[in-house]
Amino acid sequence: MSQLFTPYTLNSVTFKNRIAVSPMSQYRAKDGYANDWHMVHLGRFALGGASLVYAEATAVTKDGRRTHGDLGIWEDGQIERLSQICKFIEDEGCVPGIQLGHAGRKASERRPWHGETPVDDEDVKHHNEHPWQALAPSAIPYAEGWPEPKEMNETEISETVEAFGEAARRSLEAGFKVIEVYAAHGFLVHQFLSPIANQREDKWGGTLENRQRFAVGVAKSIRKYWPENLPLIFRLSATDWLDGGIEIEDTIQTVKALKEAGVDMIDTSTGGIGGKDRPRRMVIEQGFQVPFAKQIRNATGVPTMAVGFLWDADKCEAIIENKEADMIALARELLDDPNWPLHAAQKLKSDEKHSLWPIESGWWLMKRDRLLNKLGLR
Ligand SMILES: Cc1cc2nc3c(=O)[nH]c(=O)nc-3n(C[C@H](O)[C@H](O)[C@H](O)COP(=O)(O)O)c2cc1C
Repeated sequence: MSQLFTPYTLNSVTFKNRIAVSPMSQYRAKDGYANDWHMVHLGRFALGGASLVYAEATAVTKDGRRTHGDLGIWEDGQIERLSQICKFIEDEGCVPGIQLGHAGRKASERRPWHGETPVDDEDVKHHNEHPWQALAPSAIPYAEGWPEPKEMNETEISETVEAFGEAARRSLEAGFKVIEVYAAHGFLVHQFLSPIANQREDKWGGTLENRQRFAVGVAKSIRKYWPENLPLIFRLSATDWLDGGIEIEDTIQTVKALKEAGVDMIDTSTGGIGGKDRPRRMVIEQGFQVPFAKQIRNATGVPTMAVGFLWDADKCEAIIENKEADMIALARELLDDPNWPLHAAQKLKSDEKHSLWPIESGWWLMKRDRLLNKLGLR
């Protein structure tokens, strides 16, 4: 029996297998509003056999968007379209999740295919998309050539923490069953955690306890609106891969504090705090972030999700079987093949009759297999 296809229960939510669709920003929203693109993009993964389908990084405030195309959940009007998407995902037997985020000093950025540089005159001229002032724990630009963000004052910090709570209330109303906080990849929550972006000298900076205060505050704010029985997950960058940055030992302490604040699982990523170049310490190979998921799981008892450069079904099976992580998230492999989970089930001999497929396709594929076998053609 495949472990990757064993159900898993977190709080009161049961996932039919261990495969999640990692959040993937589409940059296709207008004023933060979801549209048909998001329905089809997420819907095809719901048909492809994953158990948890995450909507992309969704901004909790308008200024917390990374680009003009980011999805948002800062006003009630944004709920309705998201609720239609949730309904579709759930009707197809999957769990709808949302990733809540704030870009901090990475706000006001151009879309990846336009260079991932700050919004500039070209955007104003061609798309009427204007730059805006980014907020951050400290006035340190994200990278060379980036404008200086504004250091957040006490009011801005407490309003942002509250915005995460309000976003959780809207997520609940929309029908999401999982919230993930985007506390990785150099976005606002990660900026507070990392000494590379946070050089404050007040209660929000300095010691690890101070730097994690914002993340803990966000978790508590969400839990005011998000019921105990629904999972709250944090995506963390377990290491910055940089001297003077976050190391796994710090992350383990942060996870313990987050657990106390009501966090149920850690989606374990790494890196992204700043600069354009990949840190020299970061060596990429299949599953290179899995050891961090394993360390967090072992040291804290908090379940983990492994992500990053995973594509082989046997490798994913081994991660679950060896208890290195409890779930697996895939991004680019699912862009290449949204049916990857269904194909993985066949490879792992967990679905030889196509019974995990939507019956509208599975029935035909099962009959075709039978015929091909009978004719000796395959
Ligand atoms: C198109 C695209 C958009 C992404 N957007 C997000 C995002 O909104 N939030 C996030 O946490 N990670 C985002 N990521 C990172 C992925 O979730 C994932 O962590 C990363 O791609 C590594 O997994 P992979 O090797 O399976 O692609 C994005 C990746 C891709 C390819």
